[in-house]
Amino acid sequence: MPDSPTPIYLDNAASSFPKPQEVTEAMHRLIQKISLSPGRSAHRFSLAASRVIFEARELVADFFGCPDSSRVVFTSNVTEALNVGIFGLLQPGDQVLTTGMEHNSVMRPLRHLEKTRGIGLTILPTDPTGAIDPDDIPPRLSAKTRLIIINHVSNVTGAVADLAAIGSRKGGALLMVDAAQSAGVFPLDMDAFGIDFLAFTGHKGLFGPTGTGGFLLREGLLLPPLKMGGTGSNSEQEEQPQMMPDCYESGTPNTLGIGGLAAGLEFIRSTDRETIRSHEEHLTRMLLDGLSQIQGITVHGPPASARRGSAVSLTMTGKSVADLAFLLDRQYGIMARAGLHCAPAAHRSIGTFPQGTLRLSPGFFNTEAEIQTTLTALDKISTTP
Ligand code: ALA
Repeated sequence: MPDSPTPIYLDNAASSFPKPQEVTEAMHRLIQKISLSPGRSAHRFSLAASRVIFEARELVADFFGCPDSSRVVFTSNVTEALNVGIFGLLQPGDQVLTTGMEHNSVMRPLRHLEKTRGIGLTILPTDPTGAIDPDDIPPRLSAKTRLIIINHVSNVTGAVADLAAIGSRKGGALLMVDAAQSAGVFPLDMDAFGIDFLAFTGHKGLFGPTGTGGFLLREGLLLPPLKMGGTGSNSEQEEQPQMMPDCYESGTPNTLGIGGLAAGLEFIRSTDRETIRSHEEHLTRMLLDGLSQIQGITVHGPPASARRGSAVSLTMTGKSVADLAFLLDRQYGIMARAGLHCAPAAHRSIGTFPQGTLRLSPGFFNTEAEIQTTLTALDKISTTP
């Protein structure tokens, strides 16, 4: 065992690392060359900052198949985006249909509104891998079902929801998609999948920095903002402007982060999303095949043959997941996440609550050699009393 092992980062489901060189360079350029307050002043730096935001908005709209970039709203993360949608769309008496795989960014606001607004919740069952059956949706819809909320790709098991099938079964309800784990890797087209509200994060598959994210709203859908304040527009009014996207973007935006996010999107465009996906898929298969050979390991999620995300959850007989993560990090330099991954509902659904799992999540910049080193490390740990 080496004294100072070369670090191996396998926590891309938490945040992708490293970021492409282009992202670092774009952010470096921006912070060196211009002040970053857009839409407030008429001087050249403010106009340049406005251009950064505008171009990023265009890139995001294009990326998710949205014809109108004014329907793209930037937030500080996907949690904020989901909160705008959940608090804005649900009224007392509304019913919500969601899945047993949701993150707390969905479950906590929903549980809060259950108590404070009397909304009703129906939870779709999952199989032990975390997959839902779209045919379970229609029988659970009623005239009161306002919203269906779907986690596109599970941050716990990597299970993928079939959005096309779900979109065609949504009846009169609105479809909200949490794309935290899928954006940048899996195809996501608002129109093609019938998505009304798509929430994304910037710092995972889109390769941007933390502090970025947002949502896209289907045309014609209006909901109140969560925060109000200065937008740089209609400044004579003391009422919040109604226009998109200003009504949701009060306060000086994260221009630096949004510029980095735009560089991340350009990186995906030039690399090709399918190339990214097939590399991640290859590493995930290699990991799953190797794990199946190690005694005492149980993988909780879809098999290697399934269409799945790169989050691989496991437990090992006789070892706590916290100990596993600690040993991997301290002895082998391998970074993984252990526990409930902010998704206790998902762990209840797949039977791993309350201990949770050890999660390994390869990303585009991982290599076969790193996966092999990880498998060797886990094999050694499994045979060490
Ligand atoms: N929700 C992110 C994760 O799964 C942070 O790690």
